[in-house]
Amino acid sequence: MIDIHTHILPKVDDGAQNIDDSLKMLRQAQDDGIEAVVLTPHILNHSDFNNESEYLARYKTLVKAAEEANIQVDIMLGSEIYVQPELLLDKKMATLNNNGKYFLIEFPMGSIPGFIAERFFTIILDGMIPIIAHPERNLGFLQRPALAYEFVARGALMQINSGSLLGRFGPKVKSLAFDLIEHNLVHFVASDCHDTLKRRCRLKKAYETVAEKWGLSLADDLFINNAKKALIGKQLTLPEPMPITRKPESLLGKLRSMLSSA
Ligand SMILES: [Fe+2]
Repeated sequence: MIDIHTHILPKVDDGAQNIDDSLKMLRQAQDDGIEAVVLTPHILNHSDFNNESEYLARYKTLVKAAEEANIQVDIMLGSEIYVQPELLLDKKMATLNNNGKYFLIEFPMGSIPGFIAERFFTIILDGMIPIIAHPERNLGFLQRPALAYEFVARGALMQINSGSLLGRFGPKVKSLAFDLIEHNLVHFVASDCHDTLKRRCRLKKAYETVAEKWGLSLADDLFINNAKKALIGKQLTLPEPMPITRKPESLLGKLRSMLSSA
């Protein structure tokens, strides 16, 4: 499998805090059946790109250390760009594996910025493809799942977290993750790993979950094939997206979820 969203690069964000952590995370990835990872440190604003040469140096050091430790995982560099009105997409780290086309973008957890649909429109016209990181954890999509279709229909792609499929972020996130797959609105599953304990680099269980429910072919696309193509800037063959339509929650349902969260 290929993990396109990880926080393994040491000492740059809330992921690995030193190179030993990074190597442990890579070993866990390898043991889980992950053959390649993209390091996607948070880029919270434009000024983080000023440190690009330092990120590249850290990346090279880690690749060398992993080789010396006999870790058999391909390591690539990219980033997870926090959404902002102007996006600097010509940086080496801006696109995954510097493929020049696909980039990973994060929305604030609490909402979907109003300006972004129009911004994506221009970006997609220019031939770049945004991959929205973990939409199933975003309150905007949780409250209005129909919006996910709007984004995908206009050319954006979606990456959900393996942990979401396993219920690690609660039942509502899990339910939205399943709904998104069910409606052809997911293109990648990645770990978004941050450490060696609770948020480690693992995909296998989620792969098995997808394979069991939707078949091996979809599991291979979401965990292997789509990533393989995206990392070299190739066009993906995508199934027709379908809108998620949910009935408004009944009064009894609302009461039940109020009682269960109390
Ligand atoms: Fe992340």
